[in-house]
Amino acid sequence: MDYKKLFDLTGKVCIVTGGTGYLGSANAQILKDFGATVVVADIRPEENRWAEAEKFEPDMKVVCDVSSAESMRNCFQEVYNKFGSVDVLVNCATYGGAHGEKSQLEKMDDETWALGIDGALSSVFRGIREVIPFMKEKGGSIINYCSMYGLVSPDLRVYGEGNPQRSPANYGAGKAGVDQLTRYAAGDLARYGIRVNSVTPGPFPNPANSGDQEFVGKLANKTMLGRVGKNHEMAGAVLLLASDASSFMTGTNIVVDGGWTAW
Ligand SMILES: NC(=O)c1ccc[n+]([C@@H]2O[C@H](COP(=O)([O-])OP(=O)(O)OC[C@H]3O[C@@H](n4cnc5c(N)ncnc54)[C@H](O)[C@@H]3O)[C@@H](O)[C@H]2O)c1
Repeated sequence: MDYKKLFDLTGKVCIVTGGTGYLGSANAQILKDFGATVVVADIRPEENRWAEAEKFEPDMKVVCDVSSAESMRNCFQEVYNKFGSVDVLVNCATYGGAHGEKSQLEKMDDETWALGIDGALSSVFRGIREVIPFMKEKGGSIINYCSMYGLVSPDLRVYGEGNPQRSPANYGAGKAGVDQLTRYAAGDLARYGIRVNSVTPGPFPNPANSGDQEFVGKLANKTMLGRVGKNHEMAGAVLLLASDASSFMTGTNIVVDGGWTAW
């Protein structure tokens, strides 16, 4: 057995939704570094917001709005037409988490609730459903982004009143749904050779929004390792699930949280 080859993605076409974001951009880069043909699919695919991303050129950038089934379908079709297959889909994009007053349970209206569930959960459902026709002949790997807040509740003492980064209930409930949807889809799609797994990030505050060092320190204190994560630290789990190194893994969830949910 050539163990290095297990991680080799040469010939695989990988799509990363939310691929210009903080975590998505690191995912796209590692997949490319291991030989994949990489497609960055984002509502803003042209943006390079990360220093490292400036050095990185994906094989294709495509506008993909994960709030629209049609947009996702068109994106997958475009990729299929250009490269002849879709082997890996990373459902990383998310939107709609409530901020400010509406993030509080008692003040969240139905519309706000529904948008957050759509952004966290329904977008992933759409991605899975729409990619099936492109993957079912050859098989493939679908990787869904959950969150530690799909596993445990945020400790609201960390956020305090009025913190705009306070994590709302619809986000966590939606992400918990992704965890279960992953297991369901894995069971349903195994017959096509499609593996479905999820990854669960812990605290990876985006450096562009983490000027509040006191808040970042509070997040760091909640982890066993005593620090927050950096985006490249999410990438290894995605590489594993995208590659043949995980050929016997499906329906599972890899938690990358510095130990946040383990105590
Ligand atoms: N950063 C963290 O601490 C953390 C923690 C837990 C889970 N997560 C999850 O990790 C994933 C990535 O998070 P991130 O920190 O990189 O976020 P980010 O905000 O940096 O990136 C999100 C990306 O999604 C894109 N996007 C937004 N709406 C879209 C739409 N309708 N269609 C297509 N693309 C759209 C944005 O343009 C952006 O590039 C998300 O699913 C998030 O819930 C992140």
